[in-house]
Amino acid sequence: MKTVNIGLIGLGTVGTGLVKALNANGPILKKRLGIDLNLLLIAEKNWRKARDVKIPLSLRASGARALIADPRIDIVVELIGGCGDARSYIVEALKRGKHVVTANKALLAAHGEGIFEQARRGGLDLYYEASVCGAIPIIKTIREGLASNRISSIFGIVNGTCNYILSRMTESGMEFAEALGEAQRLGYAEANPALDIEGDDSAHKLAILATLASGLWIPLRAIYTEGITHVSLMDIRYAREFDRVIKLLAIFKRQGNAVEARVHPTLIPARHLLASVSGAHNAVCVNGHPAGEIVLYGSGAGQDPTASAVLSDIIDIALNIRRGCAGRISPVARGGRAAIKQIDEIETQYYLRFSVIDRPGVLAGITGILGRLQIGIASVIQTERGGTVPVVIMTHRALERNVRKALARIDRLPFVKAKTTLIRVEENL
Ligand code: HSE
Repeated sequence: MKTVNIGLIGLGTVGTGLVKALNANGPILKKRLGIDLNLLLIAEKNWRKARDVKIPLSLRASGARALIADPRIDIVVELIGGCGDARSYIVEALKRGKHVVTANKALLAAHGEGIFEQARRGGLDLYYEASVCGAIPIIKTIREGLASNRISSIFGIVNGTCNYILSRMTESGMEFAEALGEAQRLGYAEANPALDIEGDDSAHKLAILATLASGLWIPLRAIYTEGITHVSLMDIRYAREFDRVIKLLAIFKRQGNAVEARVHPTLIPARHLLASVSGAHNAVCVNGHPAGEIVLYGSGAGQDPTASAVLSDIIDIALNIRRGCAGRISPVARGGRAAIKQIDEIETQYYLRFSVIDRPGVLAGITGILGRLQIGIASVIQTERGGTVPVVIMTHRALERNVRKALARIDRLPFVKAKTTLIRVEENL
């Protein structure tokens, strides 16, 4: 029986999950694959930390570099995260002709271009399913299952923490801070939760998905990123009046050479599948030709779901090693760089919540400015009377540059009492 030796760097949450998954499923996988997936060495900085798996002393490597240099290791699994040591370990592993599995979305989003190219040149496998949406096999789906397609759009709920917070606000009327506290306690949030709630985690994942879907490099810095910290309970309730829900979406669109890649809270129709994705779950909706629409749904974070993706990557590589066909599926297509639309060049519908003094002429003042900038109004809601009140306008499709210009003018009007809230709307997902 073929043995494939694995070297694991990082015994944190996901690393521990991988050891558990190998312990639990190793025997059945051996039968199913005819390959012994042998965890040979583990490099970990802090062996004193309490963990719920027992690691035999013989598995402890003297360090990550020693593990990578060990000629017996076939696959290096990097699960320490971050862009420092993780990057140099992966580069070193590829240099030494090792295949690599990583869950490191931040690293791939920032430095993927060089790393993928190094793997390609070396004819090595570099797999990264766990970097996006935990257990959901979205990378494999785009890379292999939809290989025959031209992908025109992706709409993804790719951050469990934000989806949990928005779901709790929507379903239980909970305030943002309380819902964030719950998400942290349940272990969904990153060590630094700003990465989740400011949208950066979603942007990392979108950079990977959009690059894969377009075959063009989508640099992280080109992705417009807005988090959910400004979404209030009031907006969630008004969205319901329009038969919409608010989700943090990672959006990729391609029309010819024009590419959009953006992350922001979005009003979507309440009847759409993505609207019913609740709690910390993730879902990704991919539209391609000739496949049409595909929706994948599942657990996007946490120890077991992420370990499932890591182990599936190890299996893929092990099968390739056995057949001597590593590097068969290029990690990403090599299609050059994309020209990504700036956010003020996009066209969509807008939800605008104004905070204004309730008196005659106020609406005319606002709609006059919108009209002069070619922004049509689809509907208006004002439910409160007296003093300062919210007035919500849903626009028709408009150019974002014009909407921003209009809001800059409107927010200077004397009867406008707070900065206007803007949330983009996606009508045809
Ligand atoms: N903090 C991430 C999330 C974990 O909430 O989705 C998985 O990347």
